[in-house]
Amino acid sequence: MSPFLLTRTLPEDATDADLRADVLHGLTRTPKVLPPKWFYDARGSELFEEITRLPEYYPTRAEREILIARAPEIAAATRARTLVELGSGSSEKTRHLLDALPALESYVPVDVSESALTAAAASLLDERPALSVHALIADFTRGLALPGTPGPRLVAFLGGTIGNLLPDERAVFLKSVRSLLAPGDALLMGTDLVKDEATLVAAYDDARGVTAAFNKNVLSVIDRELGADFDPDDFEHVAVWDRQHEWIEMRLRARTALTVKIPELDIAVSFESGEEIRTEVSAKFRQDGVRRELGGAGLDLREWWTDGAGRFALSLAVAV
Ligand code: SAH
Ligand code: TRP
Repeated sequence: MSPFLLTRTLPEDATDADLRADVLHGLTRTPKVLPPKWFYDARGSELFEEITRLPEYYPTRAEREILIARAPEIAAATRARTLVELGSGSSEKTRHLLDALPALESYVPVDVSESALTAAAASLLDERPALSVHALIADFTRGLALPGTPGPRLVAFLGGTIGNLLPDERAVFLKSVRSLLAPGDALLMGTDLVKDEATLVAAYDDARGVTAAFNKNVLSVIDRELGADFDPDDFEHVAVWDRQHEWIEMRLRARTALTVKIPELDIAVSFESGEEIRTEVSAKFRQDGVRRELGGAGLDLREWWTDGAGRFALSLAVAV
């Protein structure tokens, strides 16, 4: 039996206090917003896995292609003994890295989704009995304390999840990642790239409506956790390309004027017909911007790899 530890740095009720604060703040301002981490309860994590298999959602396949092609170079450049993965989800693509890192002793997946973490850890432990897995239930935007595993350390941040943070949040986040690294340690980061609007919008508004269900799931989370009476069918899933910011914006648009009660917060939230909640941005990148943002946090871009079709990039940056 291999070592396995699950640590919760989010106390059970901190999640609750956080959700209350985010919903209260986000739904009583104009325009209304909700932070994306609340998508990922057990159902949300399942729906996300389904998104990764959709024909329209190319980022997962593109990133896997790059990981498979570059894993030996990543191993040679980093000699990692510990792999930390932020927003690890199912750890599905990560297997290619785990297989390629010969010196790896310890894997530290970090996610807010407890169900995703425990499922991923269980199947990894089955397949790799020698690997020590220390799973962390934690919010990666809230300052991370990592277990004292051996260096060199490689931090992986895959799936284009960096794009779900706003630019100023990214600057703070990248500095906090840098603070987890010793000089010479590395960050491996996946970024989706700017491309034609039709391809981008389809990836966030698929024909089968899986992304729509995923987006609306945040309303079900608020209903369950805060006793609200959102009817997800009262809202329409919207994905738009913001050309100026170069990000996809996901929104939920009220089909009619309506009022939702949120008893746990003691408020009622009114929507005009057509009024929207912004639930997520997914920024798309160019190499120059990625190099600049990494550099601003003390991370030097050393490798920039794209898939054959040039849709997605994986960056390897070193802490200086
Ligand atoms: N890395 C996987 C999953 C990407 S989806 C892949 O590439 O397919 C984004 C993941 O980040 C989800 O598993 C979600 O639960 C997690 N996540 C989102 N916001 C988070 C936060 N603030 N802190 C920790 N995990 C977060
Ligand atoms: N990091 C993923 C992305 O921005 C997350 C994601 C994919 C997502 N599809 C989504 C989030 C649909 C919300 C809705 O591509």
